[in-house]
Amino acid sequence: MIGRLNHVAIAVPDLQAAADQYRNALGAKVGDPQDEPDHGVTVIFIELPNTKIELLYPLGEDSPINGFLEKNPSGGIHHMCFEVEDIIEARDALKASGARVLGSGEPKIGAHGKPVLFLHPKDFQGTLVELEQV
Ligand code: CO
Repeated sequence: MIGRLNHVAIAVPDLQAAADQYRNALGAKVGDPQDEPDHGVTVIFIELPNTKIELLYPLGEDSPINGFLEKNPSGGIHHMCFEVEDIIEARDALKASGARVLGSGEPKIGAHGKPVLFLHPKDFQGTLVELEQV
């Protein structure tokens, strides 16, 4: 069911410092910051030849990233995003397999303007999984 690895997301305590490191030390193609108020984050995408890195920084007091950064003050891998062709079909099959979908269970529009859902990390070996319909 799952397709390509769309991105790996890393929560960072200093967005500019992280972007500068990927640009200057790693020589990566780094995008501009984008505010995602619906998700409580500011993101910067880094384009790699085979996937992307999504740098995540909290936006607002209720950001879902705040708690993560409290537990991981120097940052850390926050989630992985897999591509799916039909997000509703994928969701329903995963629910039938016992996996829990976070939030309302309905897809939200993600950072690429496409529908996304998140799956409970306890159901995936401790890893928060995002599905994006492509
Ligand atoms: Co993501």
